[in-house]
Amino acid sequence: YATLLTAAFAHPGHHKAHVPTGSFIEWAPAGPNDVRGPCPMMNTLANHGFLPHDGKNLTQEVVTKGLGDALNFDAALIQVMFKQALPANPDFPNASFFDLNMLNTHNLLEHDASLSRLDAYFGNNHVFNQQVFDQTKQYWVSPTINASHITNSKLARMLQSKASNPTYKFTNTTEAFSIGEILAPFIAFGDVEMVTVARNLVIYFFENERLPVKLGWSRKTNAVALTDILDLAAKLSNASTLFTGVSPLPGTGKRDVAISQR
Ligand code: HEM
Ligand code: MG
Repeated sequence: YATLLTAAFAHPGHHKAHVPTGSFIEWAPAGPNDVRGPCPMMNTLANHGFLPHDGKNLTQEVVTKGLGDALNFDAALIQVMFKQALPANPDFPNASFFDLNMLNTHNLLEHDASLSRLDAYFGNNHVFNQQVFDQTKQYWVSPTINASHITNSKLARMLQSKASNPTYKFTNTTEAFSIGEILAPFIAFGDVEMVTVARNLVIYFFENERLPVKLGWSRKTNAVALTDILDLAAKLSNASTLFTGVSPLPGTGKRDVAISQR
């Protein structure tokens, strides 16, 4: 793939603050000296050179430029995401960057029941896993993925892990993070208002760790802000239940809401 590499991927290794300029066309997978992690999008952006191709030294400046140029994420949103990622660096709180493979630490940010990765208990928790992703895809039952399809796949992965992994862990924090992940495809490739996204774009992205430019996708013209994320998070959280109505059991959020509305 070396012939694919252009100036976009050249990075002076000794310049920590170097901010790469990515390309929607140019793409190369990780080479032997490049690191990648459990996030399909961060890997993708490194493959395109929107993030350093070696996956290292991701400062706030670098991440802001990369996610801005590639996905039109606004700077305020990236600041929030970057702050959440920094503890992945073992030097935290004395750290100003992270490397993509630092995200691999199990039960820090990386968690069980991923859509496309094995639980750490079963093996590699950060490389794309086709068998796991095939399970996930079973729930994407039409050419357009909606809130129900994506949350069904998430719940299925959770149930699969809970039933088979004796170390299965999924806390409130995991849930919040996980909702952030399942809303990501709608943000990057879909319709945020309708909560829909074309299945072929999402599958191509996960399976190739490449932006689905070939399939007609292009960067959104409107900037993605924190409010978009929060709105989608609420919708997907509501869709993440197996109940169809008010729970008859005490102590559930649904029942509390129903009572307070009487
Ligand atoms: C998963 C970090 C930005 C989409 C993950 C995971 C980490 C992570 C640690 C693994 C969680 C797991 O165990 O499944 C980050 C950081 C980001 C970032 C530090 C930026 C600072 C993004 C963006 C998108 C995205 C911008 C897309 C718009 C996803 C998706 C998953 C994921 C879809 C779930 C993968 C799966 O379940 O197999 N991310 N991420 N991420 N991320 Fe990111
Ligand atoms: Mg995981």
